[in-house]
Amino acid sequence: MKKIILATSNPHKLEEINAINKSKNIKFEVIKEKFNPEETGMTFEENAVIKAKAASKITGQYCLADDSGLCIDALEGAPGIYSSRYADSPEARINRVLKEMKSVPYDWRTAHFECTMVLTDGEGNILHKETGKIFGYIDDCPKGKNGFGYDPVFLLSEYDKTIAELDEEIKNQISHRANALNPMIKWIEENL
Ligand code: IMP
Repeated sequence: MKKIILATSNPHKLEEINAINKSKNIKFEVIKEKFNPEETGMTFEENAVIKAKAASKITGQYCLADDSGLCIDALEGAPGIYSSRYADSPEARINRVLKEMKSVPYDWRTAHFECTMVLTDGEGNILHKETGKIFGYIDDCPKGKNGFGYDPVFLLSEYDKTIAELDEEIKNQISHRANALNPMIKWIEENL
């Protein structure tokens, strides 16, 4: 069994990563130490590298970091890397997005979630990176209770539901996080 430390203090990410992981050879464990490195990067990848290396430095073990966010085309990619810092609470962040998108018609409300994962070894060397995306639209009001973050306003036209209205099992098959983690798991199984 390979143990990989997750470089996150976000319980939702841990839950989703464990639900996506079907490998019998890999066990993800959340970092136990206090973990809140400053995300000074300008891209998801730069921030994932910062987090993975910081976790390796603390634990001396294989570490996996996930940096992710919502990119809205009509807002030139915002909130992007600032997704978790766009306002003070999840509700306030959604309200800010809805306000900024108020006058934007449906066809122009395209957006995607992006997730970059970076794996480091115990010395902090980068071993592998993967990026996953999922494409949809920004709805005009929040709907649904599942998931976290911006899920209640992220509409998937193929389901005619927001991600927060979908079964979590379905989210975990199609999400940006699944699209990054599945090839990452394959790489780990073949190379570690
Ligand atoms: P990070 O912890 O710096 O990677 O910030 C990620 C932020 O992006 C979260 O706090 C959410 O606001 C948003 N986000 C990332 N993934 C998801 C998701 O699966 N659903 C909804 N919001 C997400």
